[in-house]
Amino acid sequence: MVGSVLMQRMQDEGDFANINPVFFSTSNAGGAAPDIAGAAAGAAGKLEDAFDVETLAKLPIIVTAQGGDYTKQVHGELRSRGWDGLWIDAASTLRMSDDSIIVLDPINRDVIDAGLAGGVKDYIGGNCTVSCMLMGLGGLFKNGLVEWGTSMTYQAASGGGARHMRELLSQFGTLNAEVSSELDDPASAILEIDRKVLAHQRTDIDATQFGVPLAGSLIPWIDADLGNGQSKEEWKAGVETNKILGTTGADRVIMDGLCVRIGAMRSHSQALTLKLREDLSVAEIEKLLDADNQWATVVPNTKEASMADLTPVAASGTLDIPVGRIRKLEMGPEYISAFTVGDQLLWGAAEPLRRMLNIATGTL
Ligand code: HSE
Repeated sequence: MVGSVLMQRMQDEGDFANINPVFFSTSNAGGAAPDIAGAAAGAAGKLEDAFDVETLAKLPIIVTAQGGDYTKQVHGELRSRGWDGLWIDAASTLRMSDDSIIVLDPINRDVIDAGLAGGVKDYIGGNCTVSCMLMGLGGLFKNGLVEWGTSMTYQAASGGGARHMRELLSQFGTLNAEVSSELDDPASAILEIDRKVLAHQRTDIDATQFGVPLAGSLIPWIDADLGNGQSKEEWKAGVETNKILGTTGADRVIMDGLCVRIGAMRSHSQALTLKLREDLSVAEIEKLLDADNQWATVVPNTKEASMADLTPVAASGTLDIPVGRIRKLEMGPEYISAFTVGDQLLWGAAEPLRRMLNIATGTL
């Protein structure tokens, strides 16, 4: 799914005109390569075998959205035979390696440029919630204004994959089917409808992908159990935020929170509590956020604007990262709330990769 979004974004932006692409497949080697209008010479032809390390090793840059298992298998083999090209991927496998940089160039272009100049070869897209949070709140994080923060997430089904999105929709469908005659009858009792829905959720709803029902419910755990009460998704918030920002020692930002799966399709949301290092006015904070990058968009903290512009439905399919609900909290003048939403397949996955490719080829 990330690969499809990446290909679409690259075509939309004309990226293929700047490279001589060779396409690889893990499942369809020998099949027809994608027909890319406007691609430079050499694009046409057949799909190569994505496990053919010898052919891969001839290339100066490899971009993959195949996933962690593929990275584990192929990246090490390429490096051990001396391949010194650039590896760009979206998997978590290499993210925290000392030899890699997490790419999110509107936030850490300086870190990326220093890495390229210093010979770093592995450039990895960050966790989707972390990337979307930093895109929205870059104006505070980049200026060293955040002492610590909690991020309480509302993550979409797409974070699990395509099958998870389908399962969510199927669950919505079977829930509706279970009570459709009662819904058609305005005189039917809502408590009876609720009882039937709950019985279906508890007994025979298909939850093969998520393990438990998501439609009409939520799942307060994402990714592996680290054994200390924290999920792997929650651990990523702290370590990846600091790696992206390049913050170490006393400059490190403490980030932690709970990650929750909800029944949204492809945009992750998060509610943040931030402890700032300074007592800034809300107007100053909003100005910093708006000015940081062209995609972060401050949503006024009103009911109307929040309901219209600060939801997964509003953000999905766009590169905008709306950030709103900014207000001072009762805890004190340095404590603020914020709420941000981002399409986890765009800034959360595909966009940093295509931009890194363009940085590597000198076109961004
Ligand atoms: N781990 C994320 C999720 C997606 O499950 O929502 C990938 O960053």
